[in-house]
Order: sequence, then structure tokens, then C-alpha cells
Amino acid sequence: MPLTDCRGVPLSTDKPDAVAALEAAHEEFLCYRGDPAAMIDEILREHPDFVMGHCFKASLLTQAMETRIYDDMCASLRAAEALADKANDRERGHIAAIRAWCGGDFYEAVRHWEAVLVEHPRDLLALQLAHLSDVLLGDVSDQRDVVARVFPDWSEGIPGYGYVLGLYSFGLEECRDFSRAEEYGRHAVAMNPKDAYAIHAVAHVMEMRGRQQGGIWWMTSREDDWAQGNFANHLWWHLSLFHLDLGQYDRVLEIYDQKLRNDDPTGDKYEELDSAALLWRLKLLDVDVGTRWKRLADKWAPSAADTLYAFNDVHAMITFVCDGRDELAEAVLNANERYARHANDANVAMTRTVGLPFCRAAQAFAKGDYDQVVDLLLPIRYRTHYLGGSHAQRDIIAWTLLEAALRAGRHKLALSLANERTELKPTSPQNWRMRARALKGLGLRSEAERTAAKMQSLTPH
Ligand SMILES: [Fe+2]
Repeated sequence: MPLTDCRGVPLSTDKPDAVAALEAAHEEFLCYRGDPAAMIDEILREHPDFVMGHCFKASLLTQAMETRIYDDMCASLRAAEALADKANDRERGHIAAIRAWCGGDFYEAVRHWEAVLVEHPRDLLALQLAHLSDVLLGDVSDQRDVVARVFPDWSEGIPGYGYVLGLYSFGLEECRDFSRAEEYGRHAVAMNPKDAYAIHAVAHVMEMRGRQQGGIWWMTSREDDWAQGNFANHLWWHLSLFHLDLGQYDRVLEIYDQKLRNDDPTGDKYEELDSAALLWRLKLLDVDVGTRWKRLADKWAPSAADTLYAFNDVHAMITFVCDGRDELAEAVLNANERYARHANDANVAMTRTVGLPFCRAAQAFAKGDYDQVVDLLLPIRYRTHYLGGSHAQRDIIAWTLLEAALRAGRHKLALSLANERTELKPTSPQNWRMRARALKGLGLRSEAERTAAKMQSLTPH
């Protein structure tokens, strides 16, 4: 007799222990703790014909965006496909999604998960995967709407409701609906203080609204709830951004050294992404980071020619150019140029539209050719969401453009770009600092001084 999970979603298995193990592993995946892959492996050893177990394992791996997991992901897909005649329609939908993902069609995978949700709006795994994949693909509206479509089917009494609030909170935040994002995110954290994704969504609200002190308090006051989990690295990065905006560079470097830097070569890519993104911001601010680029470049080196995910490639590129690894930087460019000419998968559009121009811009920035940086980034600045990630992560592109305009002496352009930033986030000292530099460059001394005073008024002393 086939069973359902705790939310009434059907499974083809008749083994209650398999369902319970899947739910326990999924709970770990949802709150970024423990080792959900090991948990599902254990139950699959006992029940190798557990279709949804294989789907779960493969699904977890889709989110890694690393070539080193591809063999395992495809093996889990094959195991699920071999059992397809025993699977129900929902499970066949998951198999189709993973098959599309393994074939490089990430958009098609999302469509399959969304089709599952039309029939089973309480399929929390399909919801989580569609939402997280939208984040990876930079589909900003669907990050929100995929949750909105099923939201009325959920309520507080249904297990996992808090996680749905957390997903919705992040989707709303990326769509700049900050008030509702904060309300849902805080509601989720009130339900489960260890919900790292919801903590993260509220941190994004703080970041986007320039509430640096509130963000520092939000993160540090609940550090015990997130600092031991699998999302800790990214959350430390968020905390460091608040300090960076306030000009507290010593604290930023302290967080980098104590929490972000990980010399373990088996560490996952997300750690390297956050590290590179933070050091690049410090470079834009002319902060000396010593030998930190070298350690990071050593970690990125093996994946220089991956071309699996443009978002990874641009972070590899900025690391190589900052450490003077010219050969590796050329390897990134050559691999991406070859790939963009011949490939036809979902990532190729990201690479062509944003990945390659930004990689070339990073190289030009490191060489001091700031005019070229401006010429490369200005045309693509409103298409950067194709790169995936969040507004906060992609802000390095807009910031790089403005810094290059300042260094190239294109002060009128720099002023217009700085105006944009001070309008969008008027409580950011860094935004006023850049505006003051542009005004000074234009010879508007008294206005530059008033703008610098504005920056000072927002900086804690
Ligand atoms: Fe984030």
C-alpha cells in the first residue's frame, strides 16, 4: 500500500521507515544542517528500490554546481530511472527534472518541478528545488512566484510551513518587496530559530535597505543558531558586508581569516565564491589583503576551465587576476570563449551575456585599463541577473563599474552612477564616499565636502 509523507504528498514506497528517513534528511537540507546525503545513503542501502530516495540524493547534488559531483548525480538519476515503472506520476516528474538538469537544461528542470507543484502544491522538495534553482539561474520573479502559486495551500499547521515562509521571504526580498519579506522571514525564524535560510532572507533585507547596524545585531545576536550549520560561510559573508559598508575593514579581515578562509581543498564552491567576492570588494576599496588572494587562487585553480556555471567562472577569474595568475586567467577566458561558441545548454546564455564580459572586465581592471572596464560593463549592467545569485552578490559588477569610472577619470558618468546608488541606499557610507570622489573629480569642491560630511554622519565613530 503506497504511503504519503507528513504533508499528504504521495510516494510509491510502502516502507514507513524509508519515508521517515527521507523526511529527516529533507529537514536537514531545509535548515542547512548535518549531512542529508549520508542520511539518504543509509536508507538507500536498506531499500535500494526507494525511488524518491534516489531522486532526493540527485536533487541535493543539482544544487552544488560543481563538476566533481556530476558522476554521483547522474548515478542517482540512473538508479531512479531504472525504477521508473514502479514510480508514481509525482516521482516521474522529479526524475524528468533531474534528467533535464543532468543534460544541462536547468530551465527545463525548473519547469518539471513546477509541473509537479501544480498537482502537488505541498511537495516541499519540488518547491525548494524550483526556488533554489531560480536563484542559481537569476530568475528573480519566479523565485517569488513559485512560492506564491502554492502559498494558499499552506498554513501554520502543515509541517514545513516555516520553510515555505523562508523561501517566500527571500523571493519577495529579491523582488524588492522588503516589508513583506522581512515580515515573513521574521515569522519563519520565530517558528524555528535555526532556519538558516530565513535568517539569511532577513539579512538580505537589512543589506538592501542599508540597515548595517540592524544587520550586525540580527546576525550576531543569533550566531549560535546559524554558525554551526552548512550555510554559515555565506552568513559570515553577509555579516562582513555590513562591516564593510561602515568602513570597519579590520573586522572584515578578521571575519575573513577566522570564518571565511578555508584551506581545505575539499571545501565546497560556495566558500570560495564568498571569499573571492569579499576580497574583490576590498580591492575596490584599496584595502591591502596581503597574501589572501594566493591561498584562494590555489583553491580555484583546479576548476579554471570548468565552464559549468558562469557565476563560478567570474569568481575564479577575479581571483586569478588579483593574484597575477595570467595563465589561469587565460584558461578561464579560452574555455569560456570555446564553450560559448559551441555549447547550447542553459549556462551558455549566462556566459555570453554576463560571464565573459565581466571576466574580461576583471582582467582589464587588474591591468589598470579602467576605460575598458567601463566600456565592457556599461552595456550589460541591467542584464546581470542572468548570472544568477542575489542582488547583493551581483552588486560587485555595478560597484566595479563605478570604481572603474572614477579611476578612469570619467567623473560625470561616475557621478550619475553614484547618484543611483545613494538614491537606492541612502544610508550607505560607501555610496556617499564614491559620490564625494566623483564630485571632487569634477572640481565641485564644496559639494564634495558636503557629500563627504554626509558619509561621515553615517559612519559610527
Ligand atoms: Fe545571500
